[in-house]
Amino acid sequence: MSSLDHFVRGLPKAELHVHIEGTLEPELMFELAERNGVRLPYSSVDDVRAAYSFTDLQSFLDIYYAGASVLCEQQDFDDLMTAYLHRAHADGVRRAEIMFDPQTHLERGVDFDAFMPGFLGAIERAEAELGISCGLIMSFLRHMPVESAIETFAESAPYHDVLLAVGLDSSEIDHPPADFLPVFELARRHQLHTVAHAGEEGPPEYVWAALDVLRVERIDHGVKAEPDAELVARLATDQMPLTMCPLSNVALGGFARLEDHNLKRMMDRGVKVTINSDDPAYFGGYVGDNYVQTAEALGLTRDDLVTLAANSIEASFAPDEAKAAWLDELRTVPVV
Ligand code: ADE
Ligand code: ZN
Repeated sequence: MSSLDHFVRGLPKAELHVHIEGTLEPELMFELAERNGVRLPYSSVDDVRAAYSFTDLQSFLDIYYAGASVLCEQQDFDDLMTAYLHRAHADGVRRAEIMFDPQTHLERGVDFDAFMPGFLGAIERAEAELGISCGLIMSFLRHMPVESAIETFAESAPYHDVLLAVGLDSSEIDHPPADFLPVFELARRHQLHTVAHAGEEGPPEYVWAALDVLRVERIDHGVKAEPDAELVARLATDQMPLTMCPLSNVALGGFARLEDHNLKRMMDRGVKVTINSDDPAYFGGYVGDNYVQTAEALGLTRDDLVTLAANSIEASFAPDEAKAAWLDELRTVPVV
């Protein structure tokens, strides 16, 4: 392990933008396909990895939703969550706020009483055994109508008190945030936090709408805000967290190379940036890899990396006392 690797993994941090369905490694995909009698259009694990060559968000989402079809029983969701939480813990994650896509499962006849007990069982064990702290973000698919999101929210009622937040994901272009205001209002009335993907592929106007119409507390990605100086200034003034995912952006064509990523430029303009993995099984790295590769590509200093880890803790929805304890721990990490 290089000294940068070692330093990054030793930083207490929060991961705030990871889709649990995007942590499905090809090996587990095959195992679950066999267990559940699901036919996959791949002949081997290598064949799956070879199919992971994306041109844009939609080309990824098509493969990602097809992969999720192997997730059927409570145990499958438990296995998936357990595997992710062990990897996150090994990367120094103290707090994970994890997105899941209920509509992807409901559409296939897999209901809340299968996936929620699976997620919650894995989380309870990991919290006890690893000391990691977790929250769940129920994300609505924006390629589906808002009525479906509202219906999904109603179906999730037995689990409202174990949810942390709601989010908005899937195909961004032509699906503006404002369409989802009714379900975000509903979630807020139930005391849930709110986040939304905006400015991943979509224009700065979608980031404005996520801020001013949906009134979210964090923006997922936000990289397309950069050309709008007024918007960047607003993000900085409000200290609105951006949950960036550099390896994802490069894999989906948002930046030609990691060296071109705007993470450091946005930090330098005062924006509260965080580093996350998005769909690590598909984009070549978990959160630690995202820190290390971005640091190498953009020449981030040790101080920049500490700032990014501190931002992630501050931007989390964890209780204040827990955040203070992780920040204290972060301050004691030797800068080598
Ligand atoms: N769902 C899973 N990954 C996503 C991403 N990168 N953007 C939008 N929706 C997603
Ligand atoms: Zn995402």
